Amino acid sequence: MFISFEGTEGVGKTTLIRTLYEYFQQQGKDVILTREPGGTPLAEQIRGLLLSVNHDEQMSSDTELLLMYAARAQHLEQVILPALAQGKIVLCDRFTDSSFAYQCAGRGLSREKLALLNENFVVKMPDVTFWLDAPIETGMSRARERGALDRFEQEKVSFFEKVRSGFVEIQQRESQRMKRLDATQAPEKVFADALTYLK
Ligand code: TYD
Repeated sequence: MFISFEGTEGVGKTTLIRTLYEYFQQQGKDVILTREPGGTPLAEQIRGLLLSVNHDEQMSSDTELLLMYAARAQHLEQVILPALAQGKIVLCDRFTDSSFAYQCAGRGLSREKLALLNENFVVKMPDVTFWLDAPIETGMSRARERGALDRFEQEKVSFFEKVRSGFVEIQQRESQRMKRLDATQAPEKVFADALTYLK
């Protein structure tokens, strides 16, 4: 089983993933926890490029998209596909839906570009995707409390509103795969909702 977790900044994805990871471990399941962009040493280096605010030039949206997919190709081949082949449960912090929400809905890149990459490089989609949804302001203040902001977190509220509308669109289009969780609730309640859905 391949489960991904999506949402805008500071909605509590990490907390939910960790709790689910521990839950599956206690159940004696073979489970791995991974993330995008990243998840392998090489893909983590690409993540560094993507999140860094220390570039002397502005990163173009196309470069951003292609780096996301370069990291994803590496991650799929090295980590996700082998783990699934071994019958493991894969918990992945973000996947292709983030590319749609951030690069298409947020940055304004065409769906055709994304479709081209998905068709050619994404051989496996998640079985279930949890979308943690909360008002943008709530998440942004949580992100600010965590310390220095990365290149995405430095974006304006209007950008994240567009990103959120991207997730809304995916949820409407793929309601079978994507489950919306109300992330304004207490973390225990978010976990309970996710577990009920999985069962
Ligand atoms: P992440 O560390 O999950 O951010 P956070 O913990 O703040 O939720 O992801 C890093 C950033 O990368 C995040 O701002 C969203 C962005 N991103 C994309 O823009 N496109 C993608 O395809 C992925 C996987 C992430």
